Amino acid sequence: MNILILGNGGREHALAWKLSQSPLCDDLYIAPGNAGTQLVGKNLPQISNNFDEIKQAVVDHHIELVIVGPEAPLVEGVVDFFLQDETLKNVDILGPDQYASQLEGSKSFAKDFMARHNIPTAKYIEVTQDNVEEGLAFLQSMQSPYVLKADGLAAGKGVLIIDDVQEAEAELKNMLNGKFGAASSKVVIEEFLDGIEFSVFVLVDGERYVILPEAKDYKRIGEGDTGLNTGGMGSVSPVPFYDEVLREKVISKIVEPTVNGFKKESMHYRGFVFLGLIMVGQDPMVIEYNCRMGDPETQSVMVRMKSDLLPLCLSASRGELKQESIDLIDEAVCTVVAVSGGYPGSYEKGKTISGTSDVDEMVFFAGAITDDEDNIVTSGGRVLAVTAKGSDIEEARQKALKSIDKIEFEGINYRKDIGKDLL
Ligand code: AMP
Ligand code: GLY
Repeated sequence: MNILILGNGGREHALAWKLSQSPLCDDLYIAPGNAGTQLVGKNLPQISNNFDEIKQAVVDHHIELVIVGPEAPLVEGVVDFFLQDETLKNVDILGPDQYASQLEGSKSFAKDFMARHNIPTAKYIEVTQDNVEEGLAFLQSMQSPYVLKADGLAAGKGVLIIDDVQEAEAELKNMLNGKFGAASSKVVIEEFLDGIEFSVFVLVDGERYVILPEAKDYKRIGEGDTGLNTGGMGSVSPVPFYDEVLREKVISKIVEPTVNGFKKESMHYRGFVFLGLIMVGQDPMVIEYNCRMGDPETQSVMVRMKSDLLPLCLSASRGELKQESIDLIDEAVCTVVAVSGGYPGSYEKGKTISGTSDVDEMVFFAGAITDDEDNIVTSGGRVLAVTAKGSDIEEARQKALKSIDKIEFEGINYRKDIGKDLL
C-alpha cells in the first residue's frame, strides 16, 4: 500500500525508516520531509500544513494510509477534514481528531479528563481573567516552587516553574495578559511534583491499545541537565527503573483509565498517545499527554521495535487493533542529537553536513535538507541524531558518541552525557 507521513523532523525520518521496511509498504511519501526521509521514501517538499494540498497529494499518489507525525495538523483538525471529505473518507488516517487532540492542545482539557477518570496527576486550578483572585489564593496555599502553564500550545515554552511566590503572582498576571498570546488567556496552576521523568508510548485504536517501548528524553541544552530547554537533546530506551512492577502500575493506573476514558466519552482517538510521566515516590503520575510520538524518543523507540509497525498503524487507524504486544530487540538504545551552534537561541542555517555516510550507526535527520547541488545542509536547530545499540545504555552511548564524532558541520553541538544519569 502507498503511505503518506506528514512532518519533517527526526521523528518522521524514524517512522519512515521503520515503515519502509514493511513488506506491506509500496510507495512511501513524506510531506514535506527532510534530507533523511528522502533516503527511504519520496519527499513532497512543496506540501505544508494546507489540508487541500494534502488531499491533492493523497489523490495523486493513491495513498491508502496517512500517518500524522506532529501535533499541529492534529490540533488544527486534519483528521476531521479526512473524515468529513467525500473523497478522503475511505483513506485511513492515524491520529486523534481535533476534539481528542485537545489532550495535548489544552492543558485544562487534559487535566479535566484526568480528573474525570481518576488518573493520577498534580493538583491544579484553572485561571482566567474571571477568577484571578482564586488563582492568587491557590498560589498562597501552595508551597514553592510554583508551576504555571499556558493552557494552549506555546511551542514548548508555555510552562514556568518559579521559586518566589510574588514572582509567580506577577507571572500569572503577565500570562493572562498575553505573555504567550491567546495560549495563556487561560492558565493552569499546578502543584510541583518532584521525581524522575520518563515517557511511555501507546498505540490506541479507540478502545484497545498496544504498549510501545518506553523512553527517557533529555530536554536541557547543557550536560548534567543544565541550561535552556530544547526540543530534546537525546533519548534512551529501555528506561532501567521501568521494571515489571512499575509497568503494571502504569498500565492499571494510567493506560487503562486513559483508553477507557476515550471509549466512555466516545472520543475519536486512533493514534499514538505519549504519556509524559513522573515518579513520585514509588508511583507514576501524569505530567502531560501528547497526541503524537515524541522527538527524539521515536528514534530510540523505532530502533528497539522488531515487530512490523505498518500493520499496527493500519489496524489502529481502522479501530481494529488485535495485536496485544510487540517484539523488541534485546539491546539498549541511545540517541544523541546534534544541534546548530547557538540553539535553542538564534542560529545560522545552510551549513554543509559531512561525514554521515562514514557512520555505522543509524543517522536520523531532522533540520537538514538537500540543496540544489545535492549537498546536505542544516535547516533547523536540531539537525540530526545518531541512534546506536549496545548491550546496555552505556555501551550504546559510547557507540553513538563515537559515530557522531565523525559528523561535521560548522557550529555542531551535542551532549555527551545522554543516559549517564541512569547508570
Ligand atoms: P509540560 O509541557 O506540561 O510537559 O511541562 C514541561 C516540563 O515542565 C515537564 O517536562 C516537566 O519537566 C516540568 N513540569 C511540568 N509540570 C510539572 C509539575 N507539576 N511538577 C514538576 N515539573 C513539572
Ligand atoms: N521529546 C519531547 C517531545 O517530543 O515533546
